Amino acid sequence: MSLIRLQDVSVRFETAQVLREAFFRLEPGDRVGLIGKNGSGKTSILKLILGQVTPDTGTVTLEPGVKVGYFSQFSELDGQATISEVLDDLFVEIKAVEAELASIDAAIAETPSDAELDRLIHRQAELFEQMDRLDGWDYKRRIDTALTTLGFNEAHRVCPIDELSGGWRNRAALAKILLEGPDVLLLDEPTNYLDVAGVEWLEAWFRDFRGAAIIVSHDRRFLDAVVSRIIEVENFHLHEYPGNFGEYVVQKQFRLKTLEQQFVHESELLAFEAEGISDRREAAKAASKNLGSQLAKIKKARAPGPSTRSSPRSTAGCTSRIPCAGSKASARPTATRSCSPT
Ligand SMILES: Nc1ncnc2c1ncn2[C@@H]1O[C@H](COP(=O)(O)OP(=O)(O)O)[C@@H](O)[C@H]1O
Ligand SMILES: [Mg+2]
Repeated sequence: MSLIRLQDVSVRFETAQVLREAFFRLEPGDRVGLIGKNGSGKTSILKLILGQVTPDTGTVTLEPGVKVGYFSQFSELDGQATISEVLDDLFVEIKAVEAELASIDAAIAETPSDAELDRLIHRQAELFEQMDRLDGWDYKRRIDTALTTLGFNEAHRVCPIDELSGGWRNRAALAKILLEGPDVLLLDEPTNYLDVAGVEWLEAWFRDFRGAAIIVSHDRRFLDAVVSRIIEVENFHLHEYPGNFGEYVVQKQFRLKTLEQQFVHESELLAFEAEGISDRREAAKAASKNLGSQLAKIKKARAPGPSTRSSPRSTAGCTSRIPCAGSKASARPTATRSCSPT
């Protein structure tokens, strides 16, 4: 089952249509770059996944138990704890294992009985395995690297978060979400407040991250380094392009070219059909004009006149609609008579 699935989703706010019959699936390990013009609906898609926006029609489904981490340029941590304490608390399970291992070390140093030593060594082996599974041996180094690369100096690290500026609280939120290790990361413009070193650290962090991610970003270089497919929100629909941003640019040009060719082709077809219609109209007009002039001629030919009156049979004998050859006035009895089959 997909981690996240949008099925035939439409969203409309009071004045703005955002999505119409949109489909999307996020699979394990997917790295999706979500792009589109400002106001096209990128943030709304993340909020649909978070359950903060409800679709008007269609469904949004998350795999049961999936852990989602969300960071936006407006995310900020708060509270009286320091950032070091907050990040340290994320690793409670690892810290418990660490504490038990320390107590086993101490007990072994006390020269226990053989049976007790066996028990301690057995338990120690179990805990080592658990640490491996939790990837817990270097969590302190991971915290330190995250804080250092995001620019936290010693003063920032020991300061209550509430006393940090908005920008630092935003970075603190990013550090916390990444170190929580969610199954799915939703990042909305994560590089906006990062310097070059911060962006590089984030890129490197993604190389080790095993989860899936949807990243909204205008940072082409960052997208190139991190994502494996691009979804573009355009005209209320989601268009998918495999590969990173560079590959998207090429595919998009190709798609536009194809659309343009399709448009030209369709325009040609329409023009062709329109010509056909106009030809038929002209033909119909010409035919009725012809008919009109022929009728006029016939009427004229039948118009009462001295010679017609004197020789009605000869006029009646001119059955053809074609005016009599060589005759200017077909009403004249001589001309009429000349083409009479009788
Ligand atoms: N809660 C809301 N109420 C009304 N309109 C909203 C709401 N949230 C977003 N919009 C509108 O929906 C459109 C898409 O917004 P958004 O998803 O934030 O776009 P993006 O993230 O691509 O810039 C915009 O026109 C925005 O004004
Ligand atoms: Mg947005």
